[in-house]
Amino acid sequence: MKNKRREFIRNLGISGIAALSSPTVFSRFKSMSSLRVLVLGGTNFLGPAIVKSLLRGGHQVTLFNRGITNRHLFPNLKKIKGDREKGISGYSNLGNPNEDWDVVIDVWPQNPQLVKDAVHILKKRTTHYVFISSIAVYANYVKIGMDESSPRRKGTNYEPGHYNLNKVLCEKVVEEEFPDNFTILRPGAIVGDRDSGPFGTYVLNRLMNRTEILAPNANDPVQFIDAKDIGRFVNTCVAHSKKGYYNLVGPATKMGYKEMIVGAKETLKSPVKILWMDAEFLITEMKLEPFMQVPFWIPVASDPEPGFHQISNENAIKAGLTFTDYRETVKTSYESFKEKRFILEEGSELVFGISAKRENEIIAKWKGRS
Ligand SMILES: NC(=O)c1ccc[n+]([C@@H]2O[C@H](COP(=O)([O-])OP(=O)(O)OC[C@H]3O[C@@H](n4cnc5c(N)ncnc54)[C@H](OP(=O)(O)O)[C@@H]3O)[C@@H](O)[C@H]2O)c1
Repeated sequence: MKNKRREFIRNLGISGIAALSSPTVFSRFKSMSSLRVLVLGGTNFLGPAIVKSLLRGGHQVTLFNRGITNRHLFPNLKKIKGDREKGISGYSNLGNPNEDWDVVIDVWPQNPQLVKDAVHILKKRTTHYVFISSIAVYANYVKIGMDESSPRRKGTNYEPGHYNLNKVLCEKVVEEEFPDNFTILRPGAIVGDRDSGPFGTYVLNRLMNRTEILAPNANDPVQFIDAKDIGRFVNTCVAHSKKGYYNLVGPATKMGYKEMIVGAKETLKSPVKILWMDAEFLITEMKLEPFMQVPFWIPVASDPEPGFHQISNENAIKAGLTFTDYRETVKTSYESFKEKRFILEEGSELVFGISAKRENEIIAKWKGRS
C-alpha cells in the first residue's frame, strides 16, 4: 500500500486558458510594484494557473520552455525558447547577462540537475527563486498535522522515476544556492483546470457518465488544492516576498470523503445513484485498494499513514493562502475534463481507479448481498 501510494504521488507529480494579458487590465495594475518574473515552464497544468495570477497581479511575465506544450497559450507574453534536458547549452537563449528578473518560478522539474543548471545560469540574475515541490518529500505520513519541519525522505542519488526523493534533491539545490531567497511550495493533490489526475478524469467523470457508482460509506478526511489557489499564492509570495517552505493543501474547511462525493454530485446536478458500501466489503471481500483504486479515500482507522490527508496548511494560510469555493472547483474540473483541456502523461491512465467492468461486478455482488 505505502509504495503504491508513493507511486501514485509520483504519477500525479509528473502529470497538467486564454492569456489574461489584455493591455487595459495590465496597465491598471502597472502602478503597483510590477515585478519582472521568469517562469520556467508555464504551459501545462499548474503553470497556466500561476502565469494567470501573476498577470492579474500586474507583473511582467516571461516564459522559458521549448515552445511545444500548449503553444496557443499566452500569445502576448515574451517567450524564450530552450530545452532544459540539453544541460547548460539548453539555456543559450537566456544568454543575455543584462537581462535579469526579480523572481524566477521553477514549476515542473523533478531532476535536480535541471534545477542546478537553471540556478547556474540565473543565480546572479534574480533575487528570489520559487520552486514547486510536493508533499511527496516527506519521509512518512504517520503523524497527523504534519508541518513543513517534518522530516524529508533521505537519500542523495537522483533516480529517474523516484519522484519523492528527486523532489527532495531539487529542494536541496535551491536551498544551497539561494539560502535566504527561496520559496519552496509543497502542494498535495492538485485539481482544477487542465488536471489530468483522478479528480476530473475519474471521480467526476463517473459521477456524470454512469447511472450508478460504488463508494465507500465513509467520511475519512480528504485533502486537495485547486491549481488556481496555488497560482494566487505564488503571486502573494512574489508580491510580498514570502520566503521559506509552505504546504499547499485544502480545501478551505475540513472535508470528508462522503462530503466530497455528495458535494460534487449536487454541484453537477448529477442523477447518478451512489451505492454506499461498507469499507470492510470493499477492502476485504472485493480486495480494493483505498487511494489507488478508490482515489482520495484513505480509511484513517486502518491506514498505517493516517496523516497523508491531514497535513497542516497553517503556515501557508498565515502567509495568505486562500481557497476557491469547492463547487467552483468541481465545475471547472469537470468542464476541463469534458473539453479535454488536460494532457495525459504516458502511462498515467492506468494508475488510478478501477475499470467500468470491475465496478459493475462489485455492484452486482453488493446487490446480491442485500
Ligand atoms: N499534479 C499534482 O497533483 C501535483 C501535486 C504536487 C506537486 N505537483 C507539482 O506541480 C508541478 C506541475 O507541473 P506542470 O507540468 O503543471 O508545469 P507547467 O509549467 O505547467 O508545464 C510544464 C512546462 O515545462 C516545459 N518543459 C517540459 N520539458 C521541457 C524541457 N526539456 N525544457 C524546457 N521546458 C520544458 C513545458 O513546455 P514545453 O513542452 O513547450 O517545453 C511546460 O511549459 C510539478 O512540479 C509537480 O511535481 C503536482
